Parts: sequence; structure tokens; C-alpha cells
Amino acid sequence: MSKNGLSPAPLVLITGATSGLGLALAHHYQRTGARLVLVGRKPLAALDSALFTPATYCQSDLSQPDAALEIGEWLVQHDVQHLELLIHNAGLGYYGALATQPPTSIETLIQVNLKTPLALTHRLFPQLALGHGKVVFISSVAAALPVPDYAVYGATKAALDGLARNLRVELAGRIAVQVIHPGAIRTEMHAKSGIPAGQLSTERFPTAAQVAAQTVRAIATQRAEITLGASNRLVMFAGHWAGGLLETFASRRRA
Ligand SMILES: NC(=O)c1ccc[n+]([C@@H]2O[C@H](COP(=O)([O-])OP(=O)(O)OC[C@H]3O[C@@H](n4cnc5c(N)ncnc54)[C@H](OP(=O)(O)O)[C@@H]3O)[C@@H](O)[C@H]2O)c1
Repeated sequence: MSKNGLSPAPLVLITGATSGLGLALAHHYQRTGARLVLVGRKPLAALDSALFTPATYCQSDLSQPDAALEIGEWLVQHDVQHLELLIHNAGLGYYGALATQPPTSIETLIQVNLKTPLALTHRLFPQLALGHGKVVFISSVAAALPVPDYAVYGATKAALDGLARNLRVELAGRIAVQVIHPGAIRTEMHAKSGIPAGQLSTERFPTAAQVAAQTVRAIATQRAEITLGASNRLVMFAGHWAGGLLETFASRRRA
């Protein structure tokens, strides 16, 4: 409860809110009147001041081991005591065989996609408990599929699924935990991952706004795991129940 006794607006923290799906989610929750905490690595001056202000924006490089502490400190300084929704959305990929991926790139990817979400969830348990909050991990269909040339990315997403499965049991009745599996989205992530231009027909992918609308609907449900879109659900089903066949198929395509 706030000092005046009124229920405060729900507080929504979104990591990776400066582009793609995270930015579209931020616009959505701004329209609902939620109080926002938006996390990104870009300087505030480079961002849209209608959304990103000193009161809403926490600049933090999530590849740094102390990022969770830094964000926790920001929340203390801004008197954020309760948290209703924590969306672990920030993520990055690397395109190429593991053998060619530089060790520093492997470490950055694991830090941003897995270690920081874990550490941040850990750091924010008190605020989440106070807000009877929900933690949402944005995973990927890549968690359940052979994704050659995205091995570390796929591993981090599968690890998030495992983390969420166990947190759900540990936190049952106190903090809700959900995993969302989008399929491909038309965002800058593909170009940032280093995939050669033209190798993917990204114009066929749904936009970030479309996937954000699906994500918001998924978050409103009580379901523990949700894959967005019928074709992605089919792919996930195949990944879970016919993984060996998919591996054989993927290997033959590369041969
Ligand atoms: N795109 C897809 O096809 C797809 C499919 C399935 C799942 N996903 C997942 O969806 C989520 C959002 O991805 P997207 O497609 O929206 O990609 P995106 O447009 O590249 O957005 C990723 C966000 O994460 C931020 N980020 C990356 N590294 C960071 C760091 N070190 N510190 C702070 N912020 C950092 C980015 O910041 P900058 O703006 O500074 O780069 C950006 O705000 C990711 O978890 C991704 O794995 C994407």
C-alpha cells in the first residue's frame, strides 16, 4: 500500500526494453497505466523521452556480473518496494558454429540470457513477494529444438525453462513463474546475431507489436508455459516428442 492508503499502480519491470519485443511490451504496459521500470544499456539521451525518463529508465549493462545488484540499488533509490510483474526479456544470439564463437561472446551470451535473469530474480524476491508478483521468462522455441549455429542461445533458453520449472515449485503460492516461447519475430536480434543479410526472410515473421499482444494475453493467464502461435506450438510438440527425428533431419540438411 502507498503512503496515502491507496493501492499503488502495478509495477512492471521489463529488461531489454529499448528495442524489439521489450519496447513493444513497454508501450503496451504504459497504455495500461502501469508504473514502469525499463532496463536497457543505451544512454537515456538516445531513447524516446515519452517512454524513457529518469523515473522509468534504469540503465544497466546486463552482461556485467553486478547488473542485478545495480538494478536492485536503482529500485531502492527510487523507493520501489513492490513488484507485480518482472519480465526477463533481454536477450541476444550469436550466429555460427560453437567452434568459431569467441569465448568472450559465449560468456556475454550466457550472462545476459541466463545468469543475469537468475541473479535478478534472486535479488528481487522481496519486492516480488510483497507485490504477490509474477516472473516471466521470455524463452524461445529454440529451447526444445535442434538449432545448429545457435547452440549457446538454445542452451540458455533451455536452461531458463529448467530454472522456471523449479522456481514454480519453490515459490508456489507466493510468486508466480511463467515461461513464454515465441517463435521467430521481426526484430533487430537476427542482424545483431551476425546472420548474413538475406539468409533469413525476416519479412515473413510477425512484428514485435504482434508478438507483444500475444505475450500480454499469455501473461494474463495462469498457465505455467505458453508457446505463442499454432505453428510454433506444433514445432514445440515435435521438439518434445520427436527430438531424435528432428536432429536427424537437421543433420541431413547440413550434410
Ligand atoms: N527475434 C526473434 O526471432 C526471437 C524469437 C524467440 C525469442 N526471442 C526472444 O525475445 C527476446 C527479445 O528479443 P528481440 O527479438 O526483441 O531482440 P532485440 O530487438 O535485439 O531486443 C533485445 C533487447 O535486449 C537488450 N540487450 C541485449 N544485450 C543487453 C545488455 N548487455 N544489457 C542490456 N540490454 C541488453 C537489447 O538492447 P539494445 O537495444 O541496446 O541492443 C534490446 O533492448 C529475447 O529474449 C529473445 O531471445 C526472440
